[in-house]
Amino acid sequence: MSARASSADRVASENAAQRIAMIDWRRVAADLDAEGNAVIGPVWDISIWDISNFEIGCNERRCKNAPHGLNKSGVSTAGQVRMTIDLFESSDDTMAPPEILAPGAMVLRGHATADAATLLAALDGVLAQAPFRHMVTPGGFRMSVAMTNCGAYGWITDKTGYRYGRVDPDSGRDWPPTPAPLLRLAARAAAQAGYSEFVPDACLINRYVPGTRLSLHQDKDEADFTAPVVSVSLGLPAIFLFGGMRRADTTQRVTLLHGDVVVWGGAARLRYHGVLPLKAGHHALLGEQRINLTFRKAA
Ligand code: SIN
Ligand code: FE2
Repeated sequence: MSARASSADRVASENAAQRIAMIDWRRVAADLDAEGNAVIGPVWDISIWDISNFEIGCNERRCKNAPHGLNKSGVSTAGQVRMTIDLFESSDDTMAPPEILAPGAMVLRGHATADAATLLAALDGVLAQAPFRHMVTPGGFRMSVAMTNCGAYGWITDKTGYRYGRVDPDSGRDWPPTPAPLLRLAARAAAQAGYSEFVPDACLINRYVPGTRLSLHQDKDEADFTAPVVSVSLGLPAIFLFGGMRRADTTQRVTLLHGDVVVWGGAARLRYHGVLPLKAGHHALLGEQRINLTFRKAA
């Protein structure tokens, strides 16, 4: 959709997306229709003031064509708001064939783009119960990536080592359950990559801000390596390093955009991977950050 948008559309859309970002995601559900228009609704307890701000983001061409009988400001009498979001810096070509990184590993471009707003709304509930935190490695280093978990098991690191646990050490409570839209997306991506019936019991949520990196590592704290890793990228682009079975093996550099999903399993399950320092930027939905979700079968 970004390729088709004029620069005026783009400015309007960026404004609109920024307005969305200011709104409490728990109160708004958004989806994209086939044309890439965001359908927001119902607007429940969003005030008239909020709605008037949405007007900035509605370009007339889109509004005229909108099927729900919107006025020129993009506000429907049914209390729904519709506008164009320019998800530039996102992959929206879900029809593209998978990009094979190695036998068993591939990138599904744009596989999560259409679900992104739903995923983020669901994530807000998780973050309210288990906020991001910077964990400490066994060597005593504070990780630059902020992390939290949902699912039956959460990945943790502290001075005693890396492991999965049922309880969030910060709260003493179980990790929040993985919201259904996240589980559905993970299973769908795994199936598309050839791993049927993927039922993850762990979802690690990583937050990167500019400068944040994740050094080369293997995902090997899980009990079950027959299940793949499904990794969903949202927000700012990142350069993902995908290496071999040894740390010293050469790595491929793969740019991951908002909505891209990487799946690695089978012969590729234990390949080294990491993320280069995140470049500064602004993403329409997530601002100055990248959120990565990795789904695994831990137990
Ligand atoms: C991870 O390896 O856990 C995360 C990878 C990523 O952020 O893309
Ligand atoms: Fe990893």
